[in-house]
Amino acid sequence: MDSIIVTGNGPLNGSIPIAGAKNACLTLMPATLLSDEPLTLTNAPRLSDIRTMTTLLQSLGAEVTSMQGGKVLAMSSHDLNNLTADYDIVRKMRASILVLGPMLARMGQAVVSLPGGCAIGARPVDLHLKALEAMGAELELRDGYVHAKAPAGGLKGGVVEFPFASVGATENALMAATLAKGTTVLKNAAREPEIVDLADCLRKMGAQIDGDGTSTITVQGVDRLGGATHPVVTDRIELGTYMLAPAICGGEVLLEGGRIDLLNAFVEKLDAAGVNVTETPAGLVVCNRGDRVKAVDVVTEPFPGFPTDLQAQMMALLCTADGVSVLEEKIFENRFMHAPELTRMGAKIDVHGGTAKVTGVERLKGAPVMATDLRASVSLILAGLAAEGETIVNRVYHLDRGYERVEEKLGNVGAKIERVKGK
Ligand code: UD1
Repeated sequence: MDSIIVTGNGPLNGSIPIAGAKNACLTLMPATLLSDEPLTLTNAPRLSDIRTMTTLLQSLGAEVTSMQGGKVLAMSSHDLNNLTADYDIVRKMRASILVLGPMLARMGQAVVSLPGGCAIGARPVDLHLKALEAMGAELELRDGYVHAKAPAGGLKGGVVEFPFASVGATENALMAATLAKGTTVLKNAAREPEIVDLADCLRKMGAQIDGDGTSTITVQGVDRLGGATHPVVTDRIELGTYMLAPAICGGEVLLEGGRIDLLNAFVEKLDAAGVNVTETPAGLVVCNRGDRVKAVDVVTEPFPGFPTDLQAQMMALLCTADGVSVLEEKIFENRFMHAPELTRMGAKIDVHGGTAKVTGVERLKGAPVMATDLRASVSLILAGLAAEGETIVNRVYHLDRGYERVEEKLGNVGAKIERVKGK
């Protein structure tokens, strides 16, 4: 397995291009299953999770052609010939469950393995299943698979009230509702920019959707959807991650294509920590003249709150802040696995249940550490950038699921970072 070696090398300067959002692309790709006409995505990120979704769609009979080095994905689900999403592919990535709603809506049935993914808590899919049941689907769990059937005549519009604003369940229900008969109302829906991006794409395909970006989404079902070409929205998590690089080691970096409205709650916390963020037509400029950041408290919440996917990286910043910060993780249990690794680098962190108290130290020290999930991996790289000496981040395969060319992007702004190929 590959490792990444990072050596603290002072301030960073220059610019980093931000890719299309992994999480948006992973829900836009299954949208191809809703139509027999082509769907083309531009600004796609080049990541192993995208390749996994490609393999999954191809296994169902969809054509997926990757062009321009993976930046453009041309898809067609004209000839779907398999309605089973197999365990061997699905176990690699939780987002695989997003093929369930579209297949059920268009083909009337689907069999999908229960998913795997990052080990950050139990992460069930009950909300996805309940939403589809509210549209008339009959579901049975057998041998690790969900066997789903639509009623004769197809899914029916219904009222779905989510007890928790789940991103994936909202996406699955939204896609299914586009082809259901009548009106579907999704209450307490997730409001993430990736959902608005999905709704934009579905509208281009002919869907009738209102209210995306708010907690009530109304969908008027249509008989069929057509083709479309759609650019994937900017990856706000990659954006926030790289904003933290100059925040942690000083310097001035332009994050190309970045927008504050994707990350308001996060930018507010950077501001409170004393990091300067400016929006320009080219993107966001983050500047830290070398001052030690101030401690801030963070609570993760569904959008528009502070994203759980930036909690580990924010913790890396706060490890060297002046004062005590409290981070509360409200979305996933067991999402502090980076804390003991940061402690190996000299950080002072006390974890109690869903709360971590971080007492800032002047400087971290490089150490061998282990990446435990996608966002944890990159938090260790960020910490390594600011540490004295060499940090070896082992088991970085999670990183490649969510960050394209991380060594190149950080290397180009002056970081000392290299990948060591594993056996
Ligand atoms: C998506 C993102 C992930 C991000 C998360 C929260 C993708 C591919 N992944 O994941 O990066 O961390 O949103 O912003 O877009 N839950 C249930 N039952 C369900 C579904 C969810 O109990 O059926 C719980 C989960 O265990 C978790 C919480 O709801 O505690 C939030 O999960 P959800 O919003 O669904 O996250 P994902 O869509 O899996």
